[in-house]
Amino acid sequence: MAPRKQGGDGGARSSVLGFRAAATKASVRRHSALLPSVLTFAVIVASGGLLLMIEKGMLSNVETPPPLSNGRTLDHRSPHPDPDVDAESEILREIRNRTIRAMCRQKSMPHNVWALSPLQRKTLLQHVLVNDKHHFLYCYVPKVACSNWKRVLKVLSGTLANVDTKVKMDHHADLVFLADFSPEEVQHRLQHYFKFMFVREPMARLLSAYRNKFGEIEAYQRKYGVEIVRRYRKGYAKNAKLAGDDVTFTEFVRYLLDEDPERMNEHWMPVYNLCQPCAMEFDFIGSYERLENDAAYVLERIGAPENIRFPERQTWYKPVTKETLHYYLCNVPQKLLRELLPKYILDFSFFSYPLPNITTEYCRH
Ligand SMILES: *[C@@H]1O[C@H](CO)[C@@H](O)[C@H](O)[C@H]1NC(C)=O
Ligand SMILES: *[C@@H]1O[C@H](CO)[C@@H](O)[C@H](O)[C@H]1NC(C)=O
Repeated sequence: MAPRKQGGDGGARSSVLGFRAAATKASVRRHSALLPSVLTFAVIVASGGLLLMIEKGMLSNVETPPPLSNGRTLDHRSPHPDPDVDAESEILREIRNRTIRAMCRQKSMPHNVWALSPLQRKTLLQHVLVNDKHHFLYCYVPKVACSNWKRVLKVLSGTLANVDTKVKMDHHADLVFLADFSPEEVQHRLQHYFKFMFVREPMARLLSAYRNKFGEIEAYQRKYGVEIVRRYRKGYAKNAKLAGDDVTFTEFVRYLLDEDPERMNEHWMPVYNLCQPCAMEFDFIGSYERLENDAAYVLERIGAPENIRFPERQTWYKPVTKETLHYYLCNVPQKLLRELLPKYILDFSFFSYPLPNITTEYCRH
């Protein structure tokens, strides 16, 4: 079940779907007719005005498009049996696709990996996993099922017996990164391989990183937690020995606000910076919210053997529900959230996620 379905009382969500994109098959064909609105949207987004529009409720009265009567004809590959869900995710994919293309057409955007700064390129190439046998590139995003994809890659390359093998995930061993290749080899793969990535609602991803790293991983508590408490907790005893294991979400948000997105730890670095969707033209962008279906599609598309399926969620997995997100976001001072959202605005806008409703009214219940 897709958590997005329940998002923000539907208000902000419908505004994004309502942004007049490919509501019908006919409009999918009429590429150029859509462009002005897409471009307007991109410009608004680029200027940071999207936030303002949502704040002012300007987008919230745009109607949700009616379910497609011919939803099935839009998608013949999806394994999902529910035509409404199919249609909806097709529309979302189409919006995402057009938004990205329109935004990437802007002059200021990098048009290939060589146009990136050395630091940006290094980050990107270190996040792209390569499979030469099946000719694909996967840009991994931490907290978006990347361990499971790494398992799949290891099984495909024969270094792991099967996806359910109970071993601790080694995030580097037996994996091939695009950064391991020469520029010519990189270019060849970029041109000829199937390129995909997976995205997730930006705040859910942040919360997932926060709960996992500061709640469970001692190395992170020591490396980041201690520093965060030092910087942001008023009145902690200066000489107290800090464990860094009790960082609050608000402290974490304060820390994020002071960090340079290009130098952040990969678990909270914006997806835009990790995968550079303008420099690298992705063939497919799957959603965490539709993981099972989108993963099945990719496995089929790359020609994975029949017996390889995408792993199930681990049993210890703590999902980020609508309620948990509401709880954490609503406990952060609104002023901080208003600064945090712009920091991740490229993730919201490139991947077409509505901004969360953080109004006082919404937080009251
Ligand atoms: C966007 O649409 C084009 C044209 O249909 C397609 O080739 C490309 O793979 C799509 N990209 C994504 C990320 O869906
Ligand atoms: C946010 O939630 C409140 C309370 O549920 C609602 O009145 C308001 O319209 C919502 N705002 C947006 C932009 O969805």
